[in-house]
Amino acid sequence: TGFFTHDPGFTSTSSCESAITFIDGEKGELRHRGYAIKDIAEQSSFPEVAFLLIEGELPTPSELRAFDLALKSESMVHEKLITFFQGFKSDAHPMAIMVGVVGALSAFYPDSMNIFDHAQRRTSAIRLVAKMPTIAAISYKTAVGEPVVYPDHSLAFAENFLHMMFATPCAPYKVNPVHAKALETILVLHADHEQNASTSTVRIASSSQANPFACIAAGIASLWGPSHGGANEAVLCMLDEIGTPDRIPLFLDKAKDKSDPFRLMGFGHRVYKNHDPRATLMRGICEQVLASVDTSRTPELELARALEQQALQDEYFAKRKLYPNVDFYSGIVLRAIGIPRNMFTVVFAVARTVGWVAQWNESFLDREQRISRPRQLYVGMPAREFVPLDARD
Ligand code: CMC
Repeated sequence: TGFFTHDPGFTSTSSCESAITFIDGEKGELRHRGYAIKDIAEQSSFPEVAFLLIEGELPTPSELRAFDLALKSESMVHEKLITFFQGFKSDAHPMAIMVGVVGALSAFYPDSMNIFDHAQRRTSAIRLVAKMPTIAAISYKTAVGEPVVYPDHSLAFAENFLHMMFATPCAPYKVNPVHAKALETILVLHADHEQNASTSTVRIASSSQANPFACIAAGIASLWGPSHGGANEAVLCMLDEIGTPDRIPLFLDKAKDKSDPFRLMGFGHRVYKNHDPRATLMRGICEQVLASVDTSRTPELELARALEQQALQDEYFAKRKLYPNVDFYSGIVLRAIGIPRNMFTVVFAVARTVGWVAQWNESFLDREQRISRPRQLYVGMPAREFVPLDARD
């Protein structure tokens, strides 16, 4: 009963008001708090972007120092949390570990349930942004069987993540500035993207007044899928499967075949119907990083370029306005800087935590916010008589 719009996939539904991110899909524009993504990516550090998204304005130098200090002081995790990781099999996908361990943080911070208190929400937001790289790196260390490496407060955000991933008690991680800069740019480019599936998941979970750590765990679960954040890992798997440029036409045919579930990974976007501005920046970073490594070890770039070119000339992709998205090149960059493939989506989660917490926090300021409760079009059986078990044959 009643009238409502049937909108599968929410293609034409605005679920909230937000002042954080603006996207013009036709023009290929992305802005955070009014600033163009190109300016942000070229001139800001990741903590600066985190401050901008969460607080609403670019920080002054002293505000940034204080914010950075707050992130550093929250970057360790409770020692008992580290025992959680030992319960996972060593071949567990790090995203599976992230969903569990981030959700478990709810049990360590009962104060975070005080969600109507702005200061408490800010503390939870900082804790999440600060602890995500630590949890991500521990999930990797657990998988490879190496001891946990604690955060190093003398390092910048991206450098510290690489340190926690790659340092061992025998050898410190020697920071490579090109790699650290590339990782920082990947984090910045993935920080927020308005009402995508994972952010909507976080908002929906939070609309029931759930614990923020549980809401972010829900966001991580939603991000994992290959149609969303899992695409960066899926692109590399696809390039491996294609193998050599002569096999590209075969895979383009598969992608066009409606009876085949295969899609060209890293292509297409719900909102961008011209180009993804993040993809343009990501391609630039990819060229820079690969110039600094032995390219004979990264044949994927050549293959990706050839695939992009052939797809863009193909009528199927042109007609549907399917262009490379941000994750077409991000996996190649991550691989070149030594991040293992199953950690690609985890890196995305580390970055997107900023957008999730910013939007989670913003939802409390929205007076129209109510519990998210979509309706459905019922297509099942009409009312009928119940048949008792012993009368059924
Ligand atoms: N390969 C082949 N065909 C495609 C692809 C693709 N990658 N993407 C869309 N199409 C076709 C689709 O089959 C449909 O064709 P038709 O009109 O003949 O039925 C048409 O294009 C429209 O597609 P859609 O499924 O209605 O588009 P959507 O907005 O629901 O989906 C998408 C967007 C990103 C999930 C989809 O393009 C896709 O699956 N891409 C590959 C996965 C990927 O790269 N995801 C990362 C997105 S960017 C990172 C992030 O923010 O998460």
